[in-house]
Amino acid sequence: MIYVNESKMEFHLQNESISYIFHVMKNGQLGQLYYGKRISQKDSFASLIQVNSPTPNTAHPYLEDPAFSLETRLQEFPSYGTTDFRDPALELETENGATISNFVYSSFEIHKGKKKINGLPATYAADHEAETLEIRLWDRLLEAELKLTYTLFADLPVLTRSASITNHRLEALKLNRLMSLSFDLPTSDYEFLHLSGAWARERNLKKRKLEQGIQAISSVRGSSSHAQNPFAVLKKEETTEFSGEVIGFSLVYSSNFLAQVEVDHYGTTRFLLGIHPFQFSWELQKGDTFDTPEAIIVFSDHGLNGMSQVFHTLYREHLVRKTNTAKPVMINNWEATYFDFDEEKLFEIASASQQLGVELFVLDDGWFGKRNSDKTSLGDWFVNRDKFPQGLDTLAAKIQKLGMQFGLWFEPEMISKKSELMTEHPDWVIQTPDRTSSFGRNQFVLDFSKQEVVDYLYQKIDTIIKSTKLSYIKWDMNRNITEAYSNSLPVHRQGEFFHRYILGVYQLLERLTNAHPTILIETCAGGGGRFDSGMLYYSHQAWTSDNTDAIDRLSIQYGTSLLYPIETMGSHVSAVPNHQTYRTVPLSTRANTAFFGTFGYELDPLKLSEEDREIIKNQIKFFKKHRSLLHGGTFIRLMNPTTNQAAWMVRNGDGSAAIVGYYNILAGANPAQAKKLRIPSLNPNEAYKIVSFEPDGEVDEKHERLMGDELMNSGLALKLRFNGVNAEMAETAGDFHSEVYYLTSLLEE
Ligand code: GLA
Repeated sequence: MIYVNESKMEFHLQNESISYIFHVMKNGQLGQLYYGKRISQKDSFASLIQVNSPTPNTAHPYLEDPAFSLETRLQEFPSYGTTDFRDPALELETENGATISNFVYSSFEIHKGKKKINGLPATYAADHEAETLEIRLWDRLLEAELKLTYTLFADLPVLTRSASITNHRLEALKLNRLMSLSFDLPTSDYEFLHLSGAWARERNLKKRKLEQGIQAISSVRGSSSHAQNPFAVLKKEETTEFSGEVIGFSLVYSSNFLAQVEVDHYGTTRFLLGIHPFQFSWELQKGDTFDTPEAIIVFSDHGLNGMSQVFHTLYREHLVRKTNTAKPVMINNWEATYFDFDEEKLFEIASASQQLGVELFVLDDGWFGKRNSDKTSLGDWFVNRDKFPQGLDTLAAKIQKLGMQFGLWFEPEMISKKSELMTEHPDWVIQTPDRTSSFGRNQFVLDFSKQEVVDYLYQKIDTIIKSTKLSYIKWDMNRNITEAYSNSLPVHRQGEFFHRYILGVYQLLERLTNAHPTILIETCAGGGGRFDSGMLYYSHQAWTSDNTDAIDRLSIQYGTSLLYPIETMGSHVSAVPNHQTYRTVPLSTRANTAFFGTFGYELDPLKLSEEDREIIKNQIKFFKKHRSLLHGGTFIRLMNPTTNQAAWMVRNGDGSAAIVGYYNILAGANPAQAKKLRIPSLNPNEAYKIVSFEPDGEVDEKHERLMGDELMNSGLALKLRFNGVNAEMAETAGDFHSEVYYLTSLLEE
């Protein structure tokens, strides 16, 4: 898969679908030659080298060769200050204040599979699943080594990259910037797509045209954030969901990041991805190495769906923590009770849910310390005796006796001003000397760059996991970091704080998951404020958003699906009117949206009508029947919710079964004839049985049987909605209507 032409100094990483080619330029640095659909290996790729003639107003390192300027070269890992004026991939500073570097090629190494990155999450691969190329470059003056690591997956159009720097000189070096990847493209005819939003409206898909200049998304909040996700796409204008070229980039990291695209005055594009250089620096003493997080590059010429499917497969098989069993249908008590509960009330909720078919009971915030509101007790991870006079173990055991699993909420990184932990360890709080500390949700953040903080939390959480025989943890993080500073770091190392913080979080997760390998972990950060590839390495799923409104969830889950598999998206049916939007959406549509996620409930089952209870039993039955298809099949987006209609589907591996969800957001009066929805990726010559999951929770088998090619090309007729409401029409009339179909090939019967 990896070809090296040592006489020409060319490197070609090639699998069945993609090629990535670079070479050593005349100055010894690396130049980029090609990335895209696979091209054949040949003796020399000299034809790909741009033949530049001298350009006006351009500086050049060689007097006799004015055509060779870094400004006009596509590069692999550029630095600033020696004829290239674009933003660089790295910057190192010496004691005299100089920031010029010159890393020239020294050696390469190829090995099977993929090595771990010290202390950081990353994709993994067995020896037969990937091949890795390590390139070493050396700066003579800095006496520093730069190592660039490239892993090509055998069966996926996926390349991962990371970088590391080692200082070999006596004096320290100051690292001001080390991106995970720099990626130069010869043209700028791309659109820049990203997932942006805010609390309760995370990861909506945004699109901008590239123009000369810099465009970027980033976070400097200490987490990947609600506002931007460490993910970006460059796609051709003509690329759709189903066709056209697209490159997706994702960073396996959960803290401050920068994803930046720069179009220069010659119309070439540079994409940078990595730790945000703002507020970052790292001191490298002799022998020290700094490793960047991993960046993932996915190529597809089958549109955005093609790219997403590659990400989903990669994440399922090579990143997200795996479960041995199916993901349980859960109930979470947060929106049912908030802080107002006791043991008896919780047990009633658990028992009523068990009757409905729920498999996991999750006790959310408020079970510890003296926590009856969000003003106290974070850090006091011992049971609230007022609420649980007999201890938490008793409740857990009672729930487990019902045949259900028991789960708990934690917010390990936080501390309340009013807490025992604050009295004991005020020095554990993140704060800048002599400055006031800002509040976020009434709380402060613990300094996770300190080993004793990580050790303390490990011991506390481990004790509770053992005593309650815990099956699930919801790991929350409800505020951004301000007044960032660590009193354990020397003055000149404060730039290391944010990265050291997240290394502490990763270390705690690593230790807990090693000690308790079967525990299911759902991360959360005020909803989806840290829904990223780094956290998913340690967990199985993430709470997608605090917004549980099924209509808002359509765009949130749609955007999230660009790279994250749907079984990682925490999604619950909640009560109406909805607690975030006050909207009343039919129970059927609430479930029809949540089916395309982890699936669970976040309401008080004791307040349900008898009729709704029966419907919910059927919803759970339907979900359990199709859970393995929904959580393991191929997800395909069909209609974007911004158009007032949304649709998506999941098909199994051979196209013999599929589940389709269709959502009509606002009703229109007197509609035209029923519209049809084309169902792609079926088997054209097979007849399909079509079953619809009705709003009353019944399964309607009476639908006609249709051939795959008719469903693919003409489509499945959607129900005619009519708003001059009469009793007969009532089922399909009104706003927020949805339909779910299960299709199976008759050959399978
Ligand atoms: C955050 C989470 C919610 C809930 C509350 C509890 O907001 O996103 O789901 O757990 O905290 O305080």
